[in-house]
Amino acid sequence: MNFCSDNVAGAAPRIVAALAEAAAAGPAMPYGADAWTQAVEARFAEIFETEVAVFLVATGTAANALALAALAPAWGAVYCHPAAHVNVDECGAPELFTGGAKLVGVDGADGKIAAADLERVLATAGAGVQHHVQPAAVSLSQASESGTVYTPEETAAIAAVARAHGLGLHVDGARFANALATLGCSPAEASWRAGVDALSFGATKNGALAAEAVLLFQPALARDFAYRRKRGGHLFSKMRFLAAQMGAYLDGDQWLADARHANAMARALAEGLTALPGARLLHPVQANEVFVTLPPGVADGLTADGFRFYPWGNPADGAVRLVTAFDTDPAHVAAFLDAARRHAGVPAPTVRAG
Ligand SMILES: Cc1ncc(COP(=O)(O)O)c(C=O)c1O
Repeated sequence: MNFCSDNVAGAAPRIVAALAEAAAAGPAMPYGADAWTQAVEARFAEIFETEVAVFLVATGTAANALALAALAPAWGAVYCHPAAHVNVDECGAPELFTGGAKLVGVDGADGKIAAADLERVLATAGAGVQHHVQPAAVSLSQASESGTVYTPEETAAIAAVARAHGLGLHVDGARFANALATLGCSPAEASWRAGVDALSFGATKNGALAAEAVLLFQPALARDFAYRRKRGGHLFSKMRFLAAQMGAYLDGDQWLADARHANAMARALAEGLTALPGARLLHPVQANEVFVTLPPGVADGLTADGFRFYPWGNPADGAVRLVTAFDTDPAHVAAFLDAARRHAGVPAPTVRAG
């Protein structure tokens, strides 16, 4: 039973079936000039209630790096949380694709940037000074790397600061579905209506095999994007297979139902674990990730039982990260909690007869 990441999850059967169907459908025009891609573009416009430029790519890193390249020049500064995936886990791809823009950390509690902190940093950023990188963009992760979520109001407050200083706003939405499932608002309210200019819209972590979309809400950003994607190696000749995945992902509200399931599994883990004496959440659980300090010996016991998860931070602190997904089996969560209680020396909860 593996709680290392939502990247360990399989793929949703409806998405695999759509892929097989597209594969058997005969010839189709290449490089996005196919019916699947056109349908996905129309569907995104419907879901987001606006005209939007849609560029499918296969990885979240490509989506982020290409989106940031559309927002920041080579001499630009991109403000993000120090723990942001773009800053820590993309091997310098945003710097490469922008031609050298600098990522500047704006720290904040629970993996999030606060508008006031962004304002404070921008006030002394050296805009117009030829010796300094020039403020160009802000990048937020939704949900964040700490499993927390920006409300539309928080996003709008950041967007207002960004706009006042002439910066664009990018959102890394590798887990946008998980964030939306918690917020309960519309995709529009969580994005362009709150001032987001570019969204990396993830599907892979929530059931696709490999499909992400860059959504650009400002037509000017889209102008050169096709060339950026081609140069970045993400213009797929058989684009219909990315589109078939994304189309099946967006069909109906299953993508949100799947994210709600993942989030519910994370909450169940959090509730069960925080009932152990001495256990403590490191961050509020608002999406599909749980960061928790476990009582001494519990993490080692669970590992010896064969459960997989990552230690978090200093191993001596006993903190771990648990990630759930669209296909997390509730029985696996129950087994994990039973084992955690056993290792903590806590009796199993009594189940009242109905
Ligand atoms: C916050 C965040 N953004 C983006 C990504 C996408 O990364 P990849 O390039 O591995 O698809 C990930 C993957 O773990 C992530 O956690």
